Amino acid sequence: MGTNFPNDTNTDVMLKQLPRPTIFAHRGASAHAPENTLAAFELAIRQNADAIELDATLCADGHVVVFHDNTVDRTTDGTGSIKQLSLDALKELDAGCSFDEAFCGERIPTLSEVFEAFGQKTIINIELKNYSSLTDALPDRVAELVKKHDLNQRVIFSSFNPIALRRTKKLLPEVPVGLLTLPGFAGKWVVSALGRWIPYQALHPSIQDASQHLINQQHLRGYRVHVFIVNHPQEIACLYRWGVDGIFTSDPILARRTIASEAASEVPST
Ligand code: G3P
Ligand code: MG
Repeated sequence: MGTNFPNDTNTDVMLKQLPRPTIFAHRGASAHAPENTLAAFELAIRQNADAIELDATLCADGHVVVFHDNTVDRTTDGTGSIKQLSLDALKELDAGCSFDEAFCGERIPTLSEVFEAFGQKTIINIELKNYSSLTDALPDRVAELVKKHDLNQRVIFSSFNPIALRRTKKLLPEVPVGLLTLPGFAGKWVVSALGRWIPYQALHPSIQDASQHLINQQHLRGYRVHVFIVNHPQEIACLYRWGVDGIFTSDPILARRTIASEAASEVPST
C-alpha cells in the first residue's frame, strides 16, 4: 500500500490559493439554473462562487460529458442510459425545460465545452462519475482534456471511486484530489481501511458527517475538508465557525451572504 501525500508541494500551493471557505457551486448554481449546464456554470460565476463542481461521465462513443445521473430521464426530455447514448443523440436533448421554461434550449455540455467557456475564469472540481464501471477510461480521457486545455493548475479531481482517484494521481500528480465519502459507516470504513491507499489532499464528507471534531482531526493530519451538499444557512454558518475549508452548495449567493454575515459578527481578537 502507498501513503497519502497531503502536503505534496505542488498540490499544496494550488489548494492554499483557494479562499477559506471555498464556495463550490454544486453542479453550477443549480438552485437557480438547470444543473450541470453552461447556464448554471455561467450563473455560478456571476454569483461570485469561488469554484464550480461538475459531474463527468463517458457516453456511448467515449466522449466525456457533464451529467449527474445514470439516465437522462430526470433532467432532460429524453429517456435512456447515458452510457448507451452517443454524443450526437445527447446533443438532441433539451436539458433546460424541465427546470424552467426560461432555460429551454440548454444542452448537455461536454467537458471540453465547459473548459473552453470557463476554464480560465474559475476553479473546476471534476467529480469522476464512473461508479458503475470503476476501471473504465474516464480518468484517462479527463486527464487528456485537462492537459489539452492547460488547466492542470485550475482543476481538482474528486470521486467516491478510489481506483479513479489513484489513476488521476498517476496521470496528473500535480492536480489535487478530493476523496468523497458516503455518510455514516460506509464513509468511515473507506477512510480507515483504504485511506492510506488513496492519494488525496482533501476529504469531501457529507454534511451528515461534518463536525468540529472531524474538521480538527483532518486538519491535524494535513487535509482540507470540503463538505457536500450545504444549502441551509444554519449549516453554512456552523461549518464556517468550525473552520471548514470549503462547501459544495447549490446556492452560491446564499452561501456568500451567510458567510459574510458570520464574518461580520465575529468578535475581533485583541
Ligand atoms: O462533490 C459533491 C457532490 O457532488 C457529490 O454528490 O451526487 O451530487 O454528485 P453528487
Ligand atoms: Mg457531484
